[in-house]
Amino acid sequence: MSVRVTFERIGAHTHIRGLGIENGKAKFKSQGMVGQQRAREAAYIIVQMIKRGKMAGRAILLSGPPGTGKTAIAIGIAKELGKDVPFIYLSASEIYSAEYSKTEALMRAIRKAIGVKIKDLREVIEGEVKKLEVKMAPHPYNPYQQIPESIKITIATKDEEKTFSAGTEIALAFIQQGIREGDIIMIDKETGKVTKLGRSKEAPRLYDIEGEEYLDRPTGPIIKEREFIYVMTLHELDLRRARGGSLLSLFFTTSEKEISSDIRREVDEWVKNLVEEGRAEIIPGVLFVDEIHMLDIEAYAFLNRALESEMAPIIIFASNRGFTKIRGTDITSPHGIPMDLLDRLLIIITEPYTKDEMREIIKIRMREEDVKLTDEALERLVEMAQEHSLRYAIMLLAPTKEVIQLKNKDIADVEDIEYVANLFSDYKTSAEHLKEYEKLYLS
Ligand SMILES: Nc1ncnc2c1ncn2[C@@H]1O[C@H](COP(=O)(O)OP(=O)(O)OP(=O)(O)O)[C@@H](O)[C@H]1O
Ligand SMILES: [Mg+2]
Repeated sequence: MSVRVTFERIGAHTHIRGLGIENGKAKFKSQGMVGQQRAREAAYIIVQMIKRGKMAGRAILLSGPPGTGKTAIAIGIAKELGKDVPFIYLSASEIYSAEYSKTEALMRAIRKAIGVKIKDLREVIEGEVKKLEVKMAPHPYNPYQQIPESIKITIATKDEEKTFSAGTEIALAFIQQGIREGDIIMIDKETGKVTKLGRSKEAPRLYDIEGEEYLDRPTGPIIKEREFIYVMTLHELDLRRARGGSLLSLFFTTSEKEISSDIRREVDEWVKNLVEEGRAEIIPGVLFVDEIHMLDIEAYAFLNRALESEMAPIIIFASNRGFTKIRGTDITSPHGIPMDLLDRLLIIITEPYTKDEMREIIKIRMREEDVKLTDEALERLVEMAQEHSLRYAIMLLAPTKEVIQLKNKDIADVEDIEYVANLFSDYKTSAEHLKEYEKLYLS
């Protein structure tokens, strides 16, 4: 799926840090959000429901004219949910890619939106580093460079002492983390992941390191079991399974492989077993499907089925269309959404902005993009937002910055804004322009 497109679209919303709610009420301006209070409060209730696990398998529609903050509110929801709840942004047109079929693209997005919180007992080596010897060797391709070839470590607890030898990878991890004698460390036995926990209270103090945590030397055996908690998505588990590795290995893989339905079934079974044993918890995340007029009847059928399955994410749709044809059919319906799905949607409406709200949003974006305008220039831009669209006015900020830099100025005035607006047209003007010349272009 196109990462680049997604990234660019999110770029317009970098100022959004949450929904700006205090005691359940939306403040006029908070966390980068301005106005649209009813929709923000509704979105906040959805966030609470998701956190309490009451939303899985349900769907929400954000509905409103272009530029009224539907995508911004979805980003706000993601910020409120925090990093452990998966939030996947999908622009509906992304499902029509050459790489996978439509349904495979949707399936991947859905499985990325379901997290599994895994509690795992792992065998680790834990203790204070008593002795550390790194053996260096010349780099095979560059003999002038020395690289660590192996490492010999003596590790001790209060009750035990052991010496281990390991290869390049672990030696490198020690060097990169600046681990020295007297540090307390942990090594995951299966994967070799090295973690520095702190410095032993019994070791000599190192004055050049600030914020070091001083710990008691561990007691008991050096090799022991430790509990880890981490969140993985079903999609990550699918990739691991497809690669053939252990599902619990902490090493991350990014290799994209074809994923068969057998693999997904195996992963689901494995997850269900973990849940039954009390070793895992499913975290339904959010799949945000933006610009849904691009979804066709097959995509809707697939999503509707997905919502009914046992492990389902919360789906948030956004639409700026009224009555329109369901893609792939001749049926007209509200937002171009099939009736059976419409019936199960909670709908949040976004309203056009007032002049004051637009001004505040533009001011936030000026700060975000580091562009200064005179008061008059700002007013002119606010007028343009009203005449054309908020999005158009915001989009003019970046070229305006370029223009004043060329002129060696710090601050843009009305002329600069009008100059830029004259160079870059809004889509209505450009479409009308084409219409006027259509005959000429086509002949
Ligand atoms: N309430 C708001 N507070 C702060 N910024 C906002 C707000 N609403 C919109 N914006 C900003 O204004 C711009 C346009 O809004 P956004 O893209 O969210 O509109 P949209 O409803 O998704 O439009 P479309 O239907 O065209 O997709 C974005 O940069 C967005 O971050
Ligand atoms: Mg949008």
